[in-house]
Amino acid sequence: MQQIIEELERRRLAAEQGGGQKRIEAQHAKGKLTARERIGVLLDENSFEEWDVFVEHRCTDFDMAEKTVPGDGVVTGHGTINGRTVFVFSQDFTVFGGSLSEAHAGKICKILDHAIKVGAPVIGLNDSGGARIQEGIDSLAGYAEVFQRNVLASGVIPQISMIMGPCAGGAVYSPAITDFVFMVRNTSYMFVTGPEVVKTVTHETVTHEELGGATTHSSRSGVADGAFDNDIDALLNLRRFFDFLPLSNMADPPERETVDPADRVELSLDSLIPDNSNKPYDMHELITKVLDDGDFFELKPDYAGNIITGFGRMEGLTVGVVANQPMVLAGCLDIQSSVKAARFVRFCDAFSIPILTFVDVPGFLPGTAQEYGGIIRHGAKLLYAYAECTVPKVTVITRKAYGGAYDVMASKHLRGDVNLAWPSAEIAVMGPKGAVEIIFREDIGDEEKIAQRTEEYRQKFANPFVAGHRGFIDDVILPRDTRRRLCRSLSMLRNKQLDNPWRKHGNIPL
Ligand code: HXC
Repeated sequence: MQQIIEELERRRLAAEQGGGQKRIEAQHAKGKLTARERIGVLLDENSFEEWDVFVEHRCTDFDMAEKTVPGDGVVTGHGTINGRTVFVFSQDFTVFGGSLSEAHAGKICKILDHAIKVGAPVIGLNDSGGARIQEGIDSLAGYAEVFQRNVLASGVIPQISMIMGPCAGGAVYSPAITDFVFMVRNTSYMFVTGPEVVKTVTHETVTHEELGGATTHSSRSGVADGAFDNDIDALLNLRRFFDFLPLSNMADPPERETVDPADRVELSLDSLIPDNSNKPYDMHELITKVLDDGDFFELKPDYAGNIITGFGRMEGLTVGVVANQPMVLAGCLDIQSSVKAARFVRFCDAFSIPILTFVDVPGFLPGTAQEYGGIIRHGAKLLYAYAECTVPKVTVITRKAYGGAYDVMASKHLRGDVNLAWPSAEIAVMGPKGAVEIIFREDIGDEEKIAQRTEEYRQKFANPFVAGHRGFIDDVILPRDTRRRLCRSLSMLRNKQLDNPWRKHGNIPL
């Protein structure tokens, strides 16, 4: 028996050494942790149960039969984050550059299959040179097996990708299907074709970082939901983020105790809205003053800043927040912000997370760039997402709610459950000046008359009371009372039941 135990130890040690000391040092020299070190930071201490440590590839071409490493370049298993179960795979760049073989893919598929069965999220720590070149088509088949499972798991369990090294070619499509993609600055990149191919095909000269680094994807392409400074920063933030998510679409939302009173009054909110309605203010202030303990995990903070999305808690329970941001493009909806918010709303709906919507939107952004880019189709995504979703929806209009954008932003007409407005709300078809210049075109040029008509329109329509008369908003509330009113509404909605008509699936304008 002693001999067998020693053999087991020897094999485990071999697996733990991955690609060997030299390659581990090279990994560290790049400022990166190894696959196992990353799992150590991500999961609760001693919670990791590793699977398939002895799996090896079966490739024999290119002398590969002599080159096997137990585990085959990916560490997989399950553990806990703050006591809640999670499945993890962590690609090991020290073993064949973390490249994906048939066996490596099989290990990832195994944990995806189990995660779906038990209802627990999957976190992928990606650090891979892509398809295992020596394996050819077997590797491509492996990728497709992973993609298929990512798709079937979508909306069933949360899937999160943390890109911590290379992720190139078709390999990008597994993270792309997952719910959230985060990246590490300076050490990770994602692209479909690398700088060399780009140079050959389009004659553009671009670095890895410019083409697909964390800054590019978190501020320009919108592929990434966030970027972190280094591995430790990324993994600790991932632990914090995980706490907001339910384990599956069948699980209750996670609950965290809070001492923040539900009836907390925030007097400072009474002066948040500037006297001049064209002056911006920071919507983050409202969000953090309303949520439990001011704790807000913002997603895509550097992308489409005209809309804010992220998670917080109210009375200890997770809520999704969507808010127009008057500081960026005056809070207009455009292509990027519509798509950003639509995807977020759909995640919340899939996982039964109530949605708080804070509205200050002057309308859709005008211009040829928007029209040619398909704002009609993309704006429709947000409309569709809000209209389809059945989770509790509570909306607060702080200032402008104009035109189609009023309808889109979780209005009563899209089954908003509780729709509140601050006294500063202006709910109308369009702003007073624009409206007057259309309906009193004959007065254009007569400044005095236009000013008088504009004031008349403002008095009549730029307020919350017309919508209030029709019951399109349920109440006009004092800003200071916003948290209390939201907590009560969410508490009332806790057992909300609403089903859409049966269908195989809808046809969201993709
Ligand atoms: C097999 C690979 C590999 C791969 C890297 N390695 N990528 N082995 N298949 N795809 C091995 C290297 O041979 C090397 O082995 C070790 O990993 C580290 O690689 P280096 O090149 O020394 O590291 P670095 O300089 O950091 O460069 C990393 C890299 C580069 C940029 C990822 O290795 C690279 O360009 N690799 C090839 C990328 C690629 O073309 N992949 C296929 C893409 S197509 P030793 O033994 O020396 O340590 C694809 C299709 C997927 O992925 C389709 C899905 C639908």
